[in-house]
Amino acid sequence: MVEGFEYKGPMRVRDTLVSLIGDRNRADMKIMDLGCGTGLVGEVLYAVGFTQLDGLDPSQGMLDVARSKGVYGSLFCEYVALDNKKLDIPDNTYDALTICGSVGTNMVPPEGMYEMQRLVKPGGYVINVVRRETVLESPGFKDKLEPMMQQMEADGKWRLVSRVDFPDYLVDKPGVVFTHQVC
Ligand SMILES: C[S@@+](CC[C@H](N)C(=O)[O-])C[C@H]1O[C@@H](n2cnc3c(N)ncnc32)[C@H](O)[C@@H]1O
Repeated sequence: MVEGFEYKGPMRVRDTLVSLIGDRNRADMKIMDLGCGTGLVGEVLYAVGFTQLDGLDPSQGMLDVARSKGVYGSLFCEYVALDNKKLDIPDNTYDALTICGSVGTNMVPPEGMYEMQRLVKPGGYVINVVRRETVLESPGFKDKLEPMMQQMEADGKWRLVSRVDFPDYLVDKPGVVFTHQVC
């Protein structure tokens, strides 16, 4: 976990969400931060008025740190996509779901996208910030992550709003922001 200005993922999440929702009231939006870790995304979202935030992470230690920041409502200690099990959270619960730096090897697998889409209301957004290396080079992701996203679009589950490359996800390591709107 990188606690510092050299880690730009959370700011990308915030800026993407702010630009998507226009003048909609930020405090009305119910948001899930999946793989929230110590809550860096929650902190930056809360600071700009997104105050209805839940988080989920399999590490109780990380969640304890996230809880101490006082920005999350419910915090779930769970794995996403473990043995293809559904989380115990109803369909269409959130207006937006963010996931930052948590899709990758030994973290959330590509199959986690089914849960991301399921948890978000129709018309809501999934914002997924990933290392470019994961998308293009990591075994189990490079030939799977984007094809699965495209298949979900072909199946009418969501539509791609934007796919934005940026140079400084972590210091000089590039990242990609995928934004999907749930159908
Ligand atoms: C690199 S950290 C990123 C944390 C946070 N999103 C941030 O930007 O600071 C990755 C997080 O993914 C969590 N994680 C790993 N596997 C996961 C899974 N299957 N489901 C949900 N979270 C997972 C880890 O516990 C860790 O907190």
